[in-house]
Amino acid sequence: MDKVLIKGGRIVTAVDDYVADVLFDNGKIEAIGRELNVEDAEIHDAADLLVMPGGIDAHVHMETPMGNGIETCDSFESGTRSAAFGGTTTIIDFAQQFKGESAKLALDRRLASAEPQCCIDYGFHSILTDVNPAVLSELPDLVNRDGVSSFKLYMAYPDVLMVDDADIYRTMRKVGDHGGMVNLHAENGIVIQALIEEALAAGNTSPKFHQLTRPQLMEGEATHRVIRIAELAEVPVYIVHLSAKEALEAVVEARDRGIPAFAETCPHYLFLDNSEYDRPGFDAAKYVMTPPLRDRECQQALWRGLRFDDLQIVSTDHCPFCFNEKAHGLLKSKQPGRDDFSKIPNGAPGVEFRLPLLFDGGVGGGRININRFVQLMATAPAKMFGLFPQKGTIAVGSDADVILFDPNETHTLTARTHHSNVDYSLFEGRRVTGKVQKVFLRGTLIVDGDNWRGKAGMGRYLPRSASGRIL
Ligand code: URP
Ligand code: ZN
Repeated sequence: MDKVLIKGGRIVTAVDDYVADVLFDNGKIEAIGRELNVEDAEIHDAADLLVMPGGIDAHVHMETPMGNGIETCDSFESGTRSAAFGGTTTIIDFAQQFKGESAKLALDRRLASAEPQCCIDYGFHSILTDVNPAVLSELPDLVNRDGVSSFKLYMAYPDVLMVDDADIYRTMRKVGDHGGMVNLHAENGIVIQALIEEALAAGNTSPKFHQLTRPQLMEGEATHRVIRIAELAEVPVYIVHLSAKEALEAVVEARDRGIPAFAETCPHYLFLDNSEYDRPGFDAAKYVMTPPLRDRECQQALWRGLRFDDLQIVSTDHCPFCFNEKAHGLLKSKQPGRDDFSKIPNGAPGVEFRLPLLFDGGVGGGRININRFVQLMATAPAKMFGLFPQKGTIAVGSDADVILFDPNETHTLTARTHHSNVDYSLFEGRRVTGKVQKVFLRGTLIVDGDNWRGKAGMGRYLPRSASGRIL
């Protein structure tokens, strides 16, 4: 049925909060009003429910090769189904250029894998690992023809992903010329490598040394440095997975001077701290993500940053590896690092729990209001990455990506019932209030309580516009 009528819900966007009906027609929001009557529509009663735009997760890594045969354990299918159950209707994943490869080829490879599998809509940031004249000459077409308007560069992982400051500058100039956005993994990879070598030489091989060799100061230093390079190149810059107070201070300082510097943080930095690394044995490997979990002081600074818009987005950096090798094999698990923390695949899962966590801890916890919640989860990522107003809001003409959310239902976050391939959760056993009830993707019901109504391949690729000039 093309027409769907959502009756009597509380519509919450980044700026609105009122009770009304919403009519979807042919995948778009057709009308919003009181007491709408449409004869041939499928009707959903939303009394006592919040009606919000579907979430946009701007940082995920589905079926991503990490080198040495290691790969994240969610396919595009399992990962996007899991996202949908958590109220997310769009992901932006990555198309990583391997050294010597064309960035367009990398995009085509990811599109070919994603197309038959994705259950929700998707876009790609391009990751450049080999910045050379040929690849720089591809950027205009990637932005203007292929809809890839954001480019991620790594300041960490020397010899694998890291590019140097000159390449960062060159990329920024080119991307800036075409109105794109540059995303940075900001950590001083060279110093961190020296710390890792020092730790291993001293026989320190356990997972807690992942954290001890990636200090806050080196995230702060890299963040400060790269914002200065962006300032010189006159391009907006977006810091991914910001975790440290020192890094946030660099963003705040730049923003106060009118520099277009933006940043996201992730749920694990908001809800967990570095005491997790004191877990006995190899269990702490579950928390090996980069940057690592920080102290309570950082956590408080991040919440303050979210509240006052020093941080603009919450993404998950969903980068799942099973804890046990049995589930999906050694190379999709944390086990390759059992005897050496530097070999633990970096990354943690979380794509399904972003909305319930942020609603419970943010809105329920009195740290952010409900409009800010929608802004952080959907509207800001849509604007930051060139998807607005097609995505990220409830407005006439926008895609009918809508969730019905019960603000009062309490439930338990657990890997026993989540829909990802991964065999653990960072938030195992946490009780939260606020639960996704129904999810519509372009007007089609894909999640109905605990039931899956979507299909692999129904997600569509989203060419994104260049947002850099208007931020
Ligand atoms: O630990 C993480 N974040 N893994 C994903 C790769 C990256 O560093 O972004
Ligand atoms: Zn990541």
